[in-house]
Amino acid sequence: MQSMLSTIALFSSSRRKGNTGQFMDRIASELSIEVVNLDTLRISSFDYQHRNRNDDFEPLMKRILVHDQIIFATPIYWYAVSPAMKVFLDRLSDLLDLPDLLAEGRRLRGKNAFVVCSSIRDEPSTAFMQAFRETFDYLGMRFTGVAHVNCQDGYVPAAHDADALKIAALVRQAVAVPVELRVDTLS
Ligand SMILES: Cc1cc2nc3c(=O)[nH]c(=O)nc-3n(C[C@H](O)[C@H](O)[C@H](O)COP(=O)(O)O)c2cc1C
Repeated sequence: MQSMLSTIALFSSSRRKGNTGQFMDRIASELSIEVVNLDTLRISSFDYQHRNRNDDFEPLMKRILVHDQIIFATPIYWYAVSPAMKVFLDRLSDLLDLPDLLAEGRRLRGKNAFVVCSSIRDEPSTAFMQAFRETFDYLGMRFTGVAHVNCQDGYVPAAHDADALKIAALVRQAVAVPVELRVDTLS
């Protein structure tokens, strides 16, 4: 049996043990993977002058880049990601801007990307999903799966466990696809 590709989850929400946090933790416990809480790190907004190079972003990227798959876990707040997730995504621009980080940025290419999210609708907002799709596409990452739960009545393990197990299986079974063979569309 093929072993699972190494995977890390990046999580951010206004509450650690809220709907998204409980959903992500269920998935992580199934997969035995690390969940990085972006809200506890010191990562400041993108700076055109890059005066924030000594914050937690670059050490975090080093931790991320050793993995083959990245899970992005966030609630949907106003059709978009949570604030710390947005700051993290913005800071990926550092990898493209700074010549000494360009090689690191290129290491994102070909990695599998998953989205784990919650909202109070049956489907994740189109704008929210589209932003992720275009971001992964730009970075050369492979959008491999999404798990969304409707938490209108909160996170209900009895109702949402199946979704957690489903995405966990997808993450476990995913294979690495060489960049040159990549098909950009998910569906
Ligand atoms: C500031 C804010 C904005 C929200 N915006 C949306 C939204 O655009 N669409 C939606 O379906 N739910 C929206 N919600 C509901 C949350 O997505 C939902 O309650 C989610 O499960 C919260 O996850 P959390 O417990 O991790 O914060 C919003 C909630 C908050 C607090």
